[in-house]
Amino acid sequence: TVQDARVEVDFDSAAPRIEPEVQGHFAEHLGRGIYEGVWVGEDSAIPNTDGFRNDVLAALQRLEIPVVRWPGGCFADEYDWRDGIGPREERPARINTHWGWVIEDNAFGTHEFLNYSEALGAKPYVAGNMGSLPAIEMGRWLEYMTGDLPTELAEMRRANGREEPWDVPYFGVGNESWGCGGNMRPQYSADLHRRYSTFLKAPPGKSVVKVATGANIDDYDFTEALMRDARHTMDAVSIHYYTFPGSWEDKGPATGFGRDQWASTLKHALRMDELVTNHVAIMDRYDPEGRVALYVDEWGTWYDSEPGSTPGFLYQQNSLRDAHVAALTLNIFHRHTRRVKMANIAQMVNVLQASILTDGEQMLLTPTYHVLEMYKPFRNAVPLDTQVETPRYVEGEYELPLVDVSVARGADGKLVVSLVNLSPETPARVATNLEGSATGRIITGPAMDTHNTFDNPETIRPAAYSAEEDGGRLVFDLPAKSVVVVTID
Ligand code: AHR
Repeated sequence: TVQDARVEVDFDSAAPRIEPEVQGHFAEHLGRGIYEGVWVGEDSAIPNTDGFRNDVLAALQRLEIPVVRWPGGCFADEYDWRDGIGPREERPARINTHWGWVIEDNAFGTHEFLNYSEALGAKPYVAGNMGSLPAIEMGRWLEYMTGDLPTELAEMRRANGREEPWDVPYFGVGNESWGCGGNMRPQYSADLHRRYSTFLKAPPGKSVVKVATGANIDDYDFTEALMRDARHTMDAVSIHYYTFPGSWEDKGPATGFGRDQWASTLKHALRMDELVTNHVAIMDRYDPEGRVALYVDEWGTWYDSEPGSTPGFLYQQNSLRDAHVAALTLNIFHRHTRRVKMANIAQMVNVLQASILTDGEQMLLTPTYHVLEMYKPFRNAVPLDTQVETPRYVEGEYELPLVDVSVARGADGKLVVSLVNLSPETPARVATNLEGSATGRIITGPAMDTHNTFDNPETIRPAAYSAEEDGGRLVFDLPAKSVVVVTID
């Protein structure tokens, strides 16, 4: 039976706008994320432009990605940027020690990434190596990319085919220094951040946001140490949080799961709110004026890899459940716009909660892609305080809200509303104090794990949706397990 919920929007509330960059992506040298997913090389039979596969490029261009983080991840702290420049045939073969122990031939390097970012219209966010290269190399990489004087590095860039300096607005000082980035203790990481960021200098007239590699999940000591001892040398601090249905050791499958794993996954995704709240509380103590931003620069679902896929490649299917995780997580970021200025879903293509999957020359768009596409009107919108009176959705030990809602006023003055029905079986009818004509799209499916396959790539995709009016107020009928985004005229 249908359950009733009620939404009351405070039209006079004000909060910092939703930065487009919270819809950012992360693309690591991992599995088939870069190689095959993005880059196939000029000689590939897969249609490409300068080595970038055309189908994926076009799909990502439609998404209008605001920012992409690269090259890792764990890969970043073993990566020597000098391996990835110059004639491809002269680039060294290395081992990708983190991800499958496969050969990294460095065909995709700095020029390829920055050219790809330009083709996407996305801002590049480069993650530097704090774990295993000297500090000066971080500064030199930035100089190579952004230098405009006739220095050795800028001339090298020109000789390698790029005359004009690139803009590199974001630079990550290391990645997961508490783990794969060097197994550092918080204090040591804070000290290293101070040292490395000292040598990271944008040319006059340019700026670079220096991002400190930060805490895993709820490691609040890490944020505490960074904010206490290194806040003056950073512009942003990162946190990473992944959603597993089960545990790190036994994550659970991407499809073919039961209601318990649907509920546990959504419950774990909602934990993002608690984590952001607690990290922000620490930041507020040291930086009450809110100068330092919080970047959730890795988030997303992490399941058992698909049976038969290469171990270490983190290839997983993506279903209606992922659509829910994406929507709920973005809604959480909308509630924390004072600090959360960027977030990067992991990862862009073929890895973890990917927007796009490929198989040879085939490509499909996942439910996550569709949600990100549906959420575009939230970019630059101002979130409005919204009270949601919702029944609970209870599944075994898990209790969740049945309905989750985010409302914001777009740059064009129109309201944007997203509504998520978390229950896999109960429809909801949501009454509101909203007026006007609400049209947009809905994504839903018959099963919790409805997903696209290479044989049936259009099984799940958004459909047109409009709200009803009742007594001059908008009412939203939400089927079970659905995500709706509308704009109101
Ligand atoms: O996204 C996969 C991995 O998850 C990243 O390389 C690392 O930063 C995190 O642990």
